[in-house]
Amino acid sequence: MKVLSVASEIFPLVKTGGLADVTGSLPKALARCGVETATLLPGYPIVMEQLSNALPLLAFDDLLGEPASLLHVRVEGLNLFVLDAPALYDRAGGPYTDDTGKDHPDNWKRFAALSLAAAELAAGALPGWQPDLVHTHDWQTALTSVYMREMGLGIPVVITVHNLAFQGQFSVQLLPFLGLRAELYSTDCLEYFGDISFLKGGLQTADAITTVSPTYAREILTPRFGMGLDGVLNERASILRGIVNGIDLDVWDPMTDPNLIANYDHSNLRLRSGNRAALLRKFELDDTDEGPVFSAVSRLTWQKGMDMLAEAADEIICNGGKLIVFGRGDHAIEQQLLEAASRYPSRMAVHIGYDEPTAHLIHGGSDAIVQPSRFEPCGLTQLYALRYGCVPVVSRTGGLSETIIDANDAAMSARVATGFQFHPVTTDGLRGALRRALQAYADPRQWPRLQNQGMKARFSWDRSAQQYAAVYASLTKKSRSLEISIAPHIAI
Ligand code: ADP
Ligand code: GLC
Repeated sequence: MKVLSVASEIFPLVKTGGLADVTGSLPKALARCGVETATLLPGYPIVMEQLSNALPLLAFDDLLGEPASLLHVRVEGLNLFVLDAPALYDRAGGPYTDDTGKDHPDNWKRFAALSLAAAELAAGALPGWQPDLVHTHDWQTALTSVYMREMGLGIPVVITVHNLAFQGQFSVQLLPFLGLRAELYSTDCLEYFGDISFLKGGLQTADAITTVSPTYAREILTPRFGMGLDGVLNERASILRGIVNGIDLDVWDPMTDPNLIANYDHSNLRLRSGNRAALLRKFELDDTDEGPVFSAVSRLTWQKGMDMLAEAADEIICNGGKLIVFGRGDHAIEQQLLEAASRYPSRMAVHIGYDEPTAHLIHGGSDAIVQPSRFEPCGLTQLYALRYGCVPVVSRTGGLSETIIDANDAAMSARVATGFQFHPVTTDGLRGALRRALQAYADPRQWPRLQNQGMKARFSWDRSAQQYAAVYASLTKKSRSLEISIAPHIAI
């Protein structure tokens, strides 16, 4: 089966968060299930810089008013179509924001053009290659299925919601510039509280909706987590399911990770001390005592509960622990964390930045990872932490609730506990979980047991990829029975 995945980021070429990890690692796992994936992504400068031997395949003279071309390239086992459209993507800043953190003002056009190019590919714009199914991710690519339906294409579409908080909401005035009919401004398509929502359009026109954990799939049906789209999701609940994310076991392997000072596995956990020392040096923290090092590697946002961590930092520091926070995000929350750190020199460090090797070292050298998210569709950090023998302290929400087993008495005596959960998701709740973690750390039998149990947890992609493959198979079977013709196979 041939799948066209459409994504605004993909690891290792361009990443702002977990979406890139998923779009970069799922195709490799799907290949083991007999699914060939080609991924279409924008030609941001950071992507273009990394391409060598890219093959021009196709030119679009007028993609929403801009010229563009399609390149094909293979990078680290990934089969990629890159949309090279300098007017849309060749600029300073990141995929979504400029250097000051403000959204690019024409994001509507940048991602609608990507979606339109995907629909053209699905329609057979590339002679001899046509996908059996299209898989879109989040609002940035959600218009793909809207364009496909407008073209009368019957090829099935799966949309995965990685985070319902980002919906691609824009003025209805843009509709003509998107090349879409005014009639699509309706409650059963793009209309959203007087605006249009790209994500809603995708949810209304896709054949299957997935999200990245079964718990989040249930949560988003409620007004509390549904963020205005719970009504639509309830109407479409029969095609919604949760498939938990896996992790790339090659990229995140403490035995081979080149970013660690000392490689290790569950049988020689004491080697982690080399990483811990390097980490404390890097963040200029005191290395003279044995208290636990708690870390957060995260977007510094309200979603991630990083304001609560700033408030609860004293719980860690005053009980002999240290705290490292690494990430970037909302300016006010960054400032709140920096202020907290200024109260505890040499015991708490906050570095505003984004850097893959540092993220790996933090997992390999910290004792615990803190993720007090207010909502968390899946979360990957806690999965990396488990594999690295770094104990997760998490709120009980979304994917966090189903990937971490709380260290209560029953789970400890059954030897299945892997971390600490708290609920309700408040600063006091977080303080309670931090206290429990500090107590467990002080018990020389409990902590290594938790580390070992976490390292045994299996979050490879294999099971989840099989679930995606089953969703794909059921949809393509359905569309074949509707006698939708599929172009002959050529090797891309
Ligand atoms: P989200 O996608 O909501 O940010 P996830 O837990 O799914 O949350 O994924 C976050 C990804 O981003 C992980 O791969 C994590 O290691 C990475 N990450 C977060 N902050 C940083 C940072 N400051 N530097 C490098 N990687 C980071
Ligand atoms: C989103 C979610 C996160 C999830 C990631 C990958 O960014 O916030 O929970 O792990 O997507 O699916």
